[in-house]
Amino acid sequence: MSSQIPERTNIHGPAEIKPRDVHFDKLKDLNMHNWHGGNPIISQLYNGLSLLFPEGEDFFVHSVRIHAKQITDPALKTHVKGFMTQEAIHSREHIVYNEALDEQKIPTKRVLEMNHKGIEWTKKGSKQSQLASTAAAEHFTATLADMLLTDDRMMGDAPEEMKRIWRWHAVEETEHKAVAYDVYQACYPGVQGYLVRCLIMLLTLVTFVPGILLGTFALLRGVNEKPTGKHWRQALKFLFWGPGFITKMVWRSLPYFKPSFHPWDEQNFHHITEWNEA
Ligand SMILES: [Fe+2]
Ligand SMILES: [Fe+2]
Repeated sequence: MSSQIPERTNIHGPAEIKPRDVHFDKLKDLNMHNWHGGNPIISQLYNGLSLLFPEGEDFFVHSVRIHAKQITDPALKTHVKGFMTQEAIHSREHIVYNEALDEQKIPTKRVLEMNHKGIEWTKKGSKQSQLASTAAAEHFTATLADMLLTDDRMMGDAPEEMKRIWRWHAVEETEHKAVAYDVYQACYPGVQGYLVRCLIMLLTLVTFVPGILLGTFALLRGVNEKPTGKHWRQALKFLFWGPGFITKMVWRSLPYFKPSFHPWDEQNFHHITEWNEA
């Protein structure tokens, strides 16, 4: 098995992946039921995503760690360390976020169970399919991150602490977006690697999008104010048109199927520079 680094690794990526050890202690003071512009549906969509992160990001780290011995390139090794530390801090802060949901009686149990089952099922696959799942999921998070950092409608008039946690997470997802992919390419080059990568992306597409919608519905059962017709119209617009949470995520997954794809084809390094300067 080759551990050669793909030719295009990190041409537009960071020289260094630097974790930012930040805390979001004010989340518990927010109204977690309808923090997104008073809309409970969009709020629960994000809350559902937050619930996926602690166990999901542990799995991402696990799938990269089981390939650690096959990585020989010193730069990629350093990037892997940065990626692991960033994901560990993301998990830690999303646990704080998720505790705020529990404290406000938002029913998180079902979403956590669905997520756990999905991850356990993925862990039954080969080492290769586990890493391919992480590379695919990281492509989705990178797409969402780019949307969060370029389109103000993604956060609307959310409280500052909410904007801060989601944008911080988005900046770091952008920064390490190529790491799992580069490890995958180094460990599984060639046609077989490409075919598995595409197949797993297809599987991720058809499970991830319905999964986050199911999660949103499960959480909506516990909100203190039931959604109105106006909320549903706003949510449909949010998902499919402007900003197009789902449509853009699906549309922007298409380049991933190109044999020559690399996450830094999308040159959005400026998000990181802007955040660091701010
Ligand atoms: Fe993360
Ligand atoms: Fe990530």
